[in-house]
Amino acid sequence: MRDAAAIDVAAFGPLWGHDLRTLNATRGATASSRTRGVRRDSRLAGFVIAGRTGRSGYLQRLAIDPERRREGLGRLLTVDALRWMHRTRCIDVFVNTSEQNQAALALYGSLGFDQRPERLTVAEIDLTGGASAP
Ligand SMILES: CC(C)(COP(=O)(O)OP(=O)(O)OC[C@H]1O[C@@H](n2cnc3c(N)ncnc32)[C@H](O)[C@@H]1OP(=O)(O)O)[C@@H](O)C(=O)NCCC(=O)NCCS
Repeated sequence: MRDAAAIDVAAFGPLWGHDLRTLNATRGATASSRTRGVRRDSRLAGFVIAGRTGRSGYLQRLAIDPERRREGLGRLLTVDALRWMHRTRCIDVFVNTSEQNQAALALYGSLGFDQRPERLTVAEIDLTGGASAP
């Protein structure tokens, strides 16, 4: 998981990347979860965290080392996660990503995900005493 956290920060950047603690918290966000990694040359090259609550599956986290992209690893891990969800009787699977994330959108689209009509907004409030703090 330590190596996975390093890949996560490399993949998502310092703002959105998870460290070991928050990555482990992600694994606890659903009733059950499954983490899988893939190695290349004896090193972790990517990982996926899949979750399940009730009969819905959630692709919670997917990241591939920037140096190992376009080798089919993202697809491999996603298919592995979908198979686990199918085997454990999920009836649908959700994932969210940025509208700008062309790589992820193409990957999920190629696997049969349909984009839902909702558009999510990411909001932030500064609680450290800024002018807009409540
Ligand atoms: C999205 C991500 C997981 C894809 O991993 P990957 O191992 O490079 O993807 P794959 O090699 O398995 O590619 C599978 C398909 O995804 C699409 N794809 C992947 N990278 C792409 C890119 N840069 N541009 C367009 N399509 C892309 C293609 O359809 C590709 O199939 P093809 O190679 O036959 O054309 C990887 O780019 C990543 O870690 N990005 C940062 C983190 C992230 O965005 N995670 C998912 C957010 S929910």
